[in-house]
Amino acid sequence: MSTQSLVFSDQDLQARNTLGLPARAAVAVLDDESVIPALCAALAAGRNGQEADDPLFILGGGSNLVIEARPRHRILRVALRGIRLRDETASHWVVEAAAGEPWHGFVDHCLAQGWPGLENLALIPGTVGAAPVQNIGAYGLELDQRLHSVVAWDLRSGRERTLRPDECGFSYRDSVFKRDGAGRWLIVRVRFALPKAWASRLDYPDLRDHPGLRSEGGAPGSESGSLRPTPRQIFDAVCDIRRRKLPDPAVLGNAGSFFKNPVIGADQAAGLKQRFPDLRTYLQADGRVKLAAGWLIEQAGWKGRRLGPVGMHARQALVLVNHGGAQAADVLALAQAVRADVQARFGVELEQEPVVLD
Ligand code: EPU
Repeated sequence: MSTQSLVFSDQDLQARNTLGLPARAAVAVLDDESVIPALCAALAAGRNGQEADDPLFILGGGSNLVIEARPRHRILRVALRGIRLRDETASHWVVEAAAGEPWHGFVDHCLAQGWPGLENLALIPGTVGAAPVQNIGAYGLELDQRLHSVVAWDLRSGRERTLRPDECGFSYRDSVFKRDGAGRWLIVRVRFALPKAWASRLDYPDLRDHPGLRSEGGAPGSESGSLRPTPRQIFDAVCDIRRRKLPDPAVLGNAGSFFKNPVIGADQAAGLKQRFPDLRTYLQADGRVKLAAGWLIEQAGWKGRRLGPVGMHARQALVLVNHGGAQAADVLALAQAVRADVQARFGVELEQEPVVLD
């Protein structure tokens, strides 16, 4: 066990945020859970006025971030690693992964071990520890539907806690970890309950219609004309859809969807549908209606359009991209222009998804 405490040093963060924004800050790397009590003690001392430390920001893969050039926050980069089968019940595999594991590699590893259930969430950038913060979701599956528990340190109380899904306050792209701000919860491990009675999730149209999932594609055990793909085939199809639509951050800087899909009241949605018959609407369980932000942005004329060094992506208008040389201010100026145009045209407020690290 290491007794060494964390050391912060000035580091370049341009390669540590997927928008590729230039930034430098004081960074410490967390690769050993045993130093966390000392970190909590130092934070408590700071709160008691014994030391005036800058606030702390917990960084995962930097894929949901707009970072300023010189943030006032000190940054704790979570690099904890490890994946193991923690428990096996009659109905589930309980798999635990350390927060610093890259998400996509973790999903791939689970499939290789014969623990399916996360394949719809393939190729999402970022780390395992960030996944519950955002309650990541794609292609008909949200993380909270597969979560067993989250092991996290509450940096305010200095205590380690294990939170069950009902204690995490999950909703669409939201959780208690996000609402409480990026300096309170230090997620160290995430546990998943993967059902042994696996069933495919093919509700999402893009996925259902993917040619790789048709029985002619050779799904083992498939009946003529029916859909019975394997988890690996679904994983491959999701990767294929994402690669076609979404820019690779290693090639073109981006932070995935830049806005949430707005959820509005049924009356407002009905009024909009009358004026815009092509409006994409998804009825929610509570009677409200989710709209496709990408469609709204495209209709507002922003698809493929640039403002300075940034723009909205030509294949997915919801993704803001850095064409090279952008700073945080460029990103925020474009976001504001898009928001204003969507508001003027549709009367709908877009909420930004990435966190601003200042
Ligand atoms: N659309 C347009 N124009 C566009 C983009 C989309 O008209 O430029 C329309 C599409 O035709 C479709 C609808 O909007 O009818 C939805 O588009 P899509 O299937 O691409 O999904 P999305 O709602 O834009 C959400 C997530 C994605 C996730 C996909 C698939 C949010 C904010 N985003 O996007 O998440 O991959 O569904 O489930 O909920 C991410 O978070 O970074 C991300 C990519």
